Amino acid sequence: MATEPVTWEREDHTKAKHDLLRAFFNKWVSIHSEHFAKRRGGLVRIYDGFAGPGVYSGGEPGSPLILLRALCEHPRLRERWQAVRYELLHFVEKHPSRAAMLEGKLEGLEVELRERQEWSDGVQWSVTCGRYEENGPRAVSGTSALFLFLDPFGYSHAPMSLTQDLIQQPKSDTLIFLPLSFVNRFAGREGQEKALDRFFGSPAWRQVPDGPGRPDALLTLFQEQLRSAGLDWVLPFRLKAEEGGNVYWIVGGSGHLAGFASIKEGFWAVDPVNGQGFAAPRPAPAGQEAFAFEEPPPPGPNTEPLLEGLREKFGRRDFTVDEAIEFTKRSRFLDTHLKDRTLAPAEQAGHLEVNRPTGARRFKEGKGITMRFTPLSEEETNIRS
Ligand SMILES: C[S@@+](CC[C@H](N)C(=O)[O-])C[C@H]1O[C@@H](n2cnc3c(N)ncnc32)[C@H](O)[C@@H]1O
Repeated sequence: MATEPVTWEREDHTKAKHDLLRAFFNKWVSIHSEHFAKRRGGLVRIYDGFAGPGVYSGGEPGSPLILLRALCEHPRLRERWQAVRYELLHFVEKHPSRAAMLEGKLEGLEVELRERQEWSDGVQWSVTCGRYEENGPRAVSGTSALFLFLDPFGYSHAPMSLTQDLIQQPKSDTLIFLPLSFVNRFAGREGQEKALDRFFGSPAWRQVPDGPGRPDALLTLFQEQLRSAGLDWVLPFRLKAEEGGNVYWIVGGSGHLAGFASIKEGFWAVDPVNGQGFAAPRPAPAGQEAFAFEEPPPPGPNTEPLLEGLREKFGRRDFTVDEAIEFTKRSRFLDTHLKDRTLAPAEQAGHLEVNRPTGARRFKEGKGITMRFTPLSEEETNIRS
């Protein structure tokens, strides 16, 4: 350990990971804080289990500073969320010099935020120098929400056993960094068996045949293991730093549907078209940078797979708006994608027959509205088969 550097260079995929973390966290903290503020109290806990030194060698901030800054700079923190306690932003780091550097960086950020009057006394943070395995979240009583960010180097740690405790906590959500290209590469090497057993929480990975399909199969296994550990709602998001390079995944997991919604919100904030992946944008060559006013408006979400899913689920039978909402909640799509972006265009295009009782408008739930898919034309059937 003595030879390990305190800081290191930030790679491209790390930037993508941090963009996703920031977007997810803003949404997550906002959903839970709003909920607790309405109930006049609640405890938000944030754990960064493999925290790092807080800064990269080029000066870029690490995950703890990103989380603390995102919370303190949130415009609602001092206006609407005073009743909410943020105890703790808990950062765990094994390496003593990294933990010490992190503590100094967080103190510096707190001073800066206090000077700018962006601090709130509801916020507390702490750094623990030690192994996350022995310093994970403990059970608390009362209304609380827990966000856990697990970002170890490589796969030598055991996310499956680390998530076991989490499942005991109400309203707990996690983001786990999964370096899939590395895992796939090591799955074929001798001597890695025990580490990979720990990583997957099972020897089942040994049955996955080698070949081009193995990364996908390993990703599926990882998700299945999280589900069987008790996180019913699991969704992966792909991070790619460069063409043909390593592929990394962030896997979000939640034990409840509201947490799943915040994971999805984070994913769609980073990828507004499909909510599934992020490729680091290449910098434009010198002299060809676009001006802000030249940038095209961001494209809307591609909701075709949601329509397909609804057609597959309901076939030619009648279904209600509430049933469609329930289906959407359990899919990778957001609630806001359903009515105006999926059902209304499908009705307009003649794919959906909608039966509205008198007085029922658009796709209002609870008004007795039913709908049914029209049969596909021969041409459409051929395209699908
Ligand atoms: C990938 S780095 C974390 C980077 C950080 N999350 C960020 O985004 O800026 C992983 C960190 O985990 C630390 N670490 C390794 N094993 C650990 C353990 N068992 N418990 C806590 N920290 C550990 C390493 O020293 C390293 O600083």
